Amino acid sequence: SGRSLWGGHFEADPAPLMTQINASIGFDKRLYAQDIVGSMAHARMLAAVGILSPTDRDAILDGLERIRGEIERGEFVFTTELEDIHLNIESRLTDLVGEPGRRLHTARSRNDQVATDFKLWVRDAMDRADARLKELQRVLLGLARTHAATVMPGFTHLQAAQPVTFGHHLMAYVEMFGRDRSRFQDARRRLNESPLGAAALAGTSFPIDRAMTAADLGFDRPMANSIDAVSDRDFALDYLASAAIAAVHLSRLAEELVLWSTPQFGFVRMPEAFTSGSSIMPQKRNPDAAELVRGKSGRILGDLQALLVVLKGLPLAYSKDMQEDKEGVFDAADSLELSLAATAAMLDGITVFPERMKAAAGVGYTTATDLADWLVRVKGVPFREAHGIAARAVKLAESKGCGLEDLGRDELAGIDARIDAGVFEVLGVERSVASRRSFGGTAPERVLEAVAAAEARYL
Ligand code: ARG
Repeated sequence: SGRSLWGGHFEADPAPLMTQINASIGFDKRLYAQDIVGSMAHARMLAAVGILSPTDRDAILDGLERIRGEIERGEFVFTTELEDIHLNIESRLTDLVGEPGRRLHTARSRNDQVATDFKLWVRDAMDRADARLKELQRVLLGLARTHAATVMPGFTHLQAAQPVTFGHHLMAYVEMFGRDRSRFQDARRRLNESPLGAAALAGTSFPIDRAMTAADLGFDRPMANSIDAVSDRDFALDYLASAAIAAVHLSRLAEELVLWSTPQFGFVRMPEAFTSGSSIMPQKRNPDAAELVRGKSGRILGDLQALLVVLKGLPLAYSKDMQEDKEGVFDAADSLELSLAATAAMLDGITVFPERMKAAAGVGYTTATDLADWLVRVKGVPFREAHGIAARAVKLAESKGCGLEDLGRDELAGIDARIDAGVFEVLGVERSVASRRSFGGTAPERVLEAVAAAEARYL
């Protein structure tokens, strides 16, 4: 049993329920590659400072390499009694190479070992999130370029507000995902200090070289405080918080895809390969993948909350509660990476219906602001007054069941004498969009500039 590794002063075997509640091997086997490179770095350092003989070091490195092969070929037998990935590997190492295996744990504890392994894993997850966000940005940028001049309704309160372009709307998500990437990149910089050599919590009496193992594992430097090194999991919280925010962005995009692909909107058609039918309703084409992206965001938000609560009341340093740090992070990473890939693939195969979008863009008097702006710009009317005049025009059009641009010249002049034929220049949705030329605005030329700038910045 696992007790053979540390059970010198124990007489009884652990209760089966103890083994069950104590074991993390069922999920922390995902740290095997990090555990092996961490142990290799530790062994090389022990030899470099004279704690381990070169012969023992080579036996250890050799054994660890064989274990990596066994795990990757599916030959390794994981044992629940050995609790976790660290003890499973160490025990197998001793089986394979004998006494040198029993020397590896000098000047180390599972406390700094697990913190190191987990940091290495989370660092890779941060890099994968960044790469997948970038792929999603690439797809969005391609669509935005194609649809820089495709007019659609813009909404506030989900009520028709002002015409915008589809490209501009998509570029909003490119910006969000760009900030998500920067959050993962910031988090990675903060994470990148090595806990290894903190030992149980106090450091060690051996003359270890923490800078050497830090460099070997790609960390920028060793963590400055041994108690902090084994106590905190804020690097995992940083990952989860960044993932949660990205998941919220993904969920909002997924919700829009669900909405836009309804027959009532009809703005887009989801690729068939990402939809399902109904066993009873023959006409159905359900956007399941988008719905699941929206739904999985709930798990990711929960994973963040769960780890915050686990850590909240813990005194320093390590407590076994901290073994609960991993499953949520693995779940969040799996959910986020799948959601990012599925969203990119869905968008890549989407069909856009520009005519439907354009027709919807004018519904709901979306150029009323353009009428008011025209009165200000051309006739010098104060905006608050112009707003009232445009509102009366909307009311008249509503009562007649027509659009603003369908009102007669005389009807408009009847509302306010300053309105003349020139106003028809601004009442169409295309002209409305073209006039929004302010920096960051929806005019097609601005959208194309934004696409070029984002391509240079992000791709
Ligand atoms: N399985 C443990 C974890 O995941 C490893 C660290 C155990 N340390 C200890 N002092 N019992 O947190």
